[in-house]
Amino acid sequence: MKFLLTVLLFAFVSADADNARLLAAKNILNEILVEGRDLTVQYNIFNVGGSAAREVSLTDASFPESDFEVIQGSLEVNWNRLAPGSNVSHAVILRPTKSGYFNFTSAEISYLASEEASERQIGYTSGPGEGGIMHHRDYDRKFSPHVIDWAAFAVMTLPSLGIPFLLWFSSKSKYDKPRASKKHN
Ligand SMILES: *[C@@H]1O[C@H](CO)[C@@H](O)[C@H](O)[C@H]1NC(C)=O
Ligand SMILES: *[C@@H]1O[C@H](CO)[C@@H](O)[C@H](O)[C@H]1NC(C)=O
Repeated sequence: MKFLLTVLLFAFVSADADNARLLAAKNILNEILVEGRDLTVQYNIFNVGGSAAREVSLTDASFPESDFEVIQGSLEVNWNRLAPGSNVSHAVILRPTKSGYFNFTSAEISYLASEEASERQIGYTSGPGEGGIMHHRDYDRKFSPHVIDWAAFAVMTLPSLGIPFLLWFSSKSKYDKPRASKKHN
């Protein structure tokens, strides 16, 4: 009885080691998230198991339509096979329609773990976590290239504007002085 149990246990463990086992990561590639601007989400799926995974499907239901617009790609993808030791990646471009904090949570993957398997394995990607989505006006104010252009323009023109200003100012104060002293009388 004990022997049979050991054999069964071994069979179970070895069968499991021969199966496909998928690990998946979900990453937001942008450093700054801005309302109304493209945001890229990348998914990487690795098969760290011993056999091919079949009918792999990735579904990301974590982006509500009220908050995100899909610009390119799909939040639902399928792959026929993923060989052991290999990986696939997928990217989606979204546009947040609102600013504020958003909790970026995991996507779901499901697959058949071996050639014989008929029951789907369910797994989850990593979750990127909470991120702040900037209001587009705040972003424009802080990072707009025009602000930088104008700043550079101001620095470059400072001497050419500044010198005539100083000349004008000193001549103006010369003429102002007598009038100012008159007021005191
Ligand atoms: C993913 O697969 C590609 C080939 O398709 C390989 O060049 C790359 O090194 C793999 N990445 C990892 C992290 O295993
Ligand atoms: C984000 O969502 C995950 C999964 O639902 C949850 O565990 C986590 O506590 C949430 N984080 C925040 C800051 O709400």
